[in-house]
Amino acid sequence: MEQLVIKGNVRLKGEVFISGAKNAALAILPATILANDVCVIENVPCVRDIQVLLQSMEQLGVLIEYIDEHKVRVDTRNIKNLKVDYDYIKKIRASYYLLGALLGKYKEAEVALPGGCNIGSRPIDQHIKGFEALGANVKVQHGIIEASADKLVGTNVFLDMVTVGATINIMLAAVLAEGTTVIENAAKEPHIVDVANFLNSMGAEIKGAGTDVIRINGVKDLHGTEYMIIPDQIETGTYMIAGAITGGDVTVTNVIPKHMEAISAKLTEMGVIIEEYDESIRVIANEPLKNIHVKTLPYPGFPTDMQPQMTAILSKTPGTSIMTESIFENRFSYTDELNRMGANIKVEGNTAVIEGVKQLTGAEVAAPDLRAGAGLILAALAAKGETVITGVEYIDRGYEHLEKKLTGIGANIFRVKEKADKSMFKVV
Ligand code: UD1
Repeated sequence: MEQLVIKGNVRLKGEVFISGAKNAALAILPATILANDVCVIENVPCVRDIQVLLQSMEQLGVLIEYIDEHKVRVDTRNIKNLKVDYDYIKKIRASYYLLGALLGKYKEAEVALPGGCNIGSRPIDQHIKGFEALGANVKVQHGIIEASADKLVGTNVFLDMVTVGATINIMLAAVLAEGTTVIENAAKEPHIVDVANFLNSMGAEIKGAGTDVIRINGVKDLHGTEYMIIPDQIETGTYMIAGAITGGDVTVTNVIPKHMEAISAKLTEMGVIIEEYDESIRVIANEPLKNIHVKTLPYPGFPTDMQPQMTAILSKTPGTSIMTESIFENRFSYTDELNRMGANIKVEGNTAVIEGVKQLTGAEVAAPDLRAGAGLILAALAAKGETVITGVEYIDRGYEHLEKKLTGIGANIFRVKEKADKSMFKVV
């Protein structure tokens, strides 16, 4: 079992290059199936979720070739298998995009129910409702979703709640359908726009992505394309807070500042200095920070995937801050771990009341999921003494070259294989 060991209380300073968006890549790579051709995708992040997804696509008969670390050639001309095994997919949530893509292209698919982080019940009823509205027959049994259709026909789908996954999945299933599909109450996240742009570059006709009404005119065929994925909004936000929480001066580069507005606005409200440039943002801490209230919301609101990282910085911000989670029901389990580091957080339902403390202290903590892991890392970077974090496998799902990037801005962070290794090294 691997662990991260962090010796904190070091002011971080320097530049971090941000990788491609994991959640965009998790949809764009399956979407190549719709083209039945060759696509070259650039800025693919080198993270565990993507590796698992690409392995599961290989099992379908897709040829994957890495041109370099972030550039992948995907040849979907020889797909022979329309069933995605549980073994491959249990670890990642976005397996459901294979269902939309296979159904859209072959009118038939079988995918094991998705896994991923345990942050709530995460139903997929809206995905199923969309597929059924398009004319598919969907069965869920023995942990497997089977979808099939004689043909898919465009229709109107009104989503009961704003959901990223269902919005993308219905787009995937609808691009090759007959006629026009309209998705109302659609999610507006940057990666929804990225997936729509990618599909359009293959010949699809999608309008309105980024607004709450998306209109998809079905086309007969799609073709291969070359496409560059947008930068990762959540990785960007995580490193911005790394700068702010350590009293540092960190510039994130290769970013789209517009995508960061909700996070930049909250940090500014806390008194952090944010300088925006064309493709970079500089974050300069400006102590003492001010306490704030934050509520997670669908884009352009404050992202739920930044909730633990924000809670980490609020835990050492003077005064009482309130964090309200409105997307997922079980996203505060990590606060017990932060409390073990000296934080003072009380959770009631979907609200965390955070009494800022002067100093966090290093402890042994366990990351319960990917973004909670990021929150614990941030707390550890600011804490006095040494923190040992387990659950690294969750963190590896979504952060590329984590130790290298953090070391590059001055952090003391090491990965050790087993507990015994820890005594072997000294952190300076
Ligand atoms: C995606 C992201 C995840 C992010 C989340 C919200 C990926 C792989 N994951 O997850 O990192 O935290 O968006 O920005 O891109 N819901 C239903 N029925 C459905 C679908 C969703 O009730 O059929 C509910 C969910 O339980 C949740 C809310 O809708 O309460 C939003 O979920 P959704 O946006 O779909 O999240 P994911 O696509 O799972």
